[in-house]
Amino acid sequence: MTIPFIDLRAQYNALHSEINTRIQAVLDHGQYIMGPEVKELEDRLAAYVGTTHCVTVSSGTEALLISLMALGIGPGDEVITTPFTFVATAEVIVLLGAKPIYVDIEPDTCNLDVRGIEAKITERTKAIMPVSLYGQTADMDEINAIARAYGNIPVIEDAAQSFGAMYQGLRSCNLSTIGCTSFFPSKPLGCYGDGGAIFTNDDAIAQASREIRVHGQAKRYVHTRIGVGGRMDTLQCAIVLAKLERLEWEIEQRRLIGARYNDLMDQAGIPRVQQRADRTSVFAQYTIFVQDRDRIQAELSQAGVPTAVHYPVPLNAQPAYKDLCCEECTPVSQRVAPTVMSLPMGPDLSLDLQGTIVNTLRNTIR
Ligand SMILES: Cc1ncc(COP(=O)(O)O)c(C=O)c1O
Repeated sequence: MTIPFIDLRAQYNALHSEINTRIQAVLDHGQYIMGPEVKELEDRLAAYVGTTHCVTVSSGTEALLISLMALGIGPGDEVITTPFTFVATAEVIVLLGAKPIYVDIEPDTCNLDVRGIEAKITERTKAIMPVSLYGQTADMDEINAIARAYGNIPVIEDAAQSFGAMYQGLRSCNLSTIGCTSFFPSKPLGCYGDGGAIFTNDDAIAQASREIRVHGQAKRYVHTRIGVGGRMDTLQCAIVLAKLERLEWEIEQRRLIGARYNDLMDQAGIPRVQQRADRTSVFAQYTIFVQDRDRIQAELSQAGVPTAVHYPVPLNAQPAYKDLCCEECTPVSQRVAPTVMSLPMGPDLSLDLQGTIVNTLRNTIR
């Protein structure tokens, strides 16, 4: 038996009539680019998140890139972020000629450690970009307070993994100047290809983002700024609209399954990523800390339990990024990276399978 790392088939089976109906509607009207589903999804997501604006884009990476462009970030600028994230977070900064400045993480949540931020702020700091890793937001109040104290530095939440998560009564993506999410298929809200969205309450940023996503076009063939080809296509928007039917249930399931994993890990004495009491994680990943990870992964794989590593190498130790910033300044990230391991997770993971996963893990760790 092989357990899926995330069971997208079960999700499709549960939603197939909504999804098929939505896809058929797009095939019938034929507006594959910027069709009516795009605006419908943007309105629904903005209402769900609680922001004035939602701008759908072609991926989570593009959401981050367009956000930085909308803020006018470019050569010589610095953006404070975490090295313990998916490469896209830093990639977009470097693509614009700006420099990622890394602040280390907390060893228990693996999110940005806010205590390191102030020391890294200079007059070139143009944004702070915390990542809501594994589905849990960082200490956004503290980050926003620091940003305010230093002349209202914009804060971009990389919420690629945390759509639907809550922080002190507010939704992830509505916690700072801009929130960016991803609809990569395995994300808490996924499409069937690539997609993403930008959320903001700032009219000018929303307008700039809308223009940048269509080649900097203010009106047809009038290009008032440099842009990208960054639209989310109508079919993908239609699929996300269908998935909204089940989103609340899925988030609740993820929360319950995450809490059950926590209990089982604590009983077995297996160290795990911690969650803070003032926020709810959507457990985009369920991640534990292990020694001897290669052996454990190989044995679990042999037993039909897939695992993944988010992320094996901090970005300031990656070949393409090494010269841009120092490794030594983020010792926690360097220490944690060889130990993290993610287990199968998803709203359709049954209690039985979860029990099998944890029992197999216990035998492997012993
Ligand atoms: C933290 C983080 N940022 C950005 C991205 C990029 O999103 P996408 O794959 O939709 O471009 C991801 C996706 O894996 C991510 O996990």
